[in-house]
Amino acid sequence: MITESYTVRRVPVERTLALRKAVLRPHLPAETPYLPPDATAPDTVAYAALDSRDRVIGVAVLTPHPPPFAPADSGARQLRGMAVAPAHRNRGVGGAVLDALIAHVAHDGGGILWCNARIAARGLYERGGMSAWGEVFDVPPIGPHIVMWRRGGPDGAVPGPAAGVAPRRA
Ligand SMILES: CC(C)(COP(=O)(O)OP(=O)(O)OC[C@H]1O[C@@H](n2cnc3c(N)ncnc32)[C@H](O)[C@@H]1OP(=O)(O)O)[C@@H](O)C(=O)NCCC(=O)NCCS
Repeated sequence: MITESYTVRRVPVERTLALRKAVLRPHLPAETPYLPPDATAPDTVAYAALDSRDRVIGVAVLTPHPPPFAPADSGARQLRGMAVAPAHRNRGVGGAVLDALIAHVAHDGGGILWCNARIAARGLYERGGMSAWGEVFDVPPIGPHIVMWRRGGPDGAVPGPAAGVAPRRA
């Protein structure tokens, strides 16, 4: 296992795209560009874990977008593109990137932080203080997902999901 140290810091969203494509969209042909909607959204904030040679080993982004249980003007931010290079997994890189995003939201007004989580990654988000909401849903060809969310800071006044709110897919 790789034990080399790494640092997590904010990066331009463009620096997240190659790892995201390799890890999250391996079925895309090499020649197909990967341009998720957050890549061109003006308010997207990206963080990366970088090794000692400044190579990207883990990434995730935040982009303004409401969860299915909150109104469009809720100020919520969606976490997207969580990916860690296979050789660097299971030593806290993903958790460190998630912690950086949580800290960013806390220092930038708080509010809801949420994501469409792959079921296999649910433990990562739970360790980041996030809770599941709603039913498991399928995203072909990737597989089952569930909405995970938390408040982004000491802002208990931010409303969470109300019981009985119908799912609205993001
Ligand atoms: C999900 C993913 C981002 C997690 O990245 P990671 O760097 O391995 O995450 P962490 O190391 O913080 O946590 C992963 C596991 O390592 C363990 N771990 C964390 N720090 C550790 C450490 N210092 N030493 C040993 N194990 C550790 C955690 O307990 C966790 O175990 P669990 O999830 O089985 O309970 C990564 O596996 C990945 O890219 N997967 C494919 C893409 C994907 O599913 N992305 C999420 C989309 S929602």
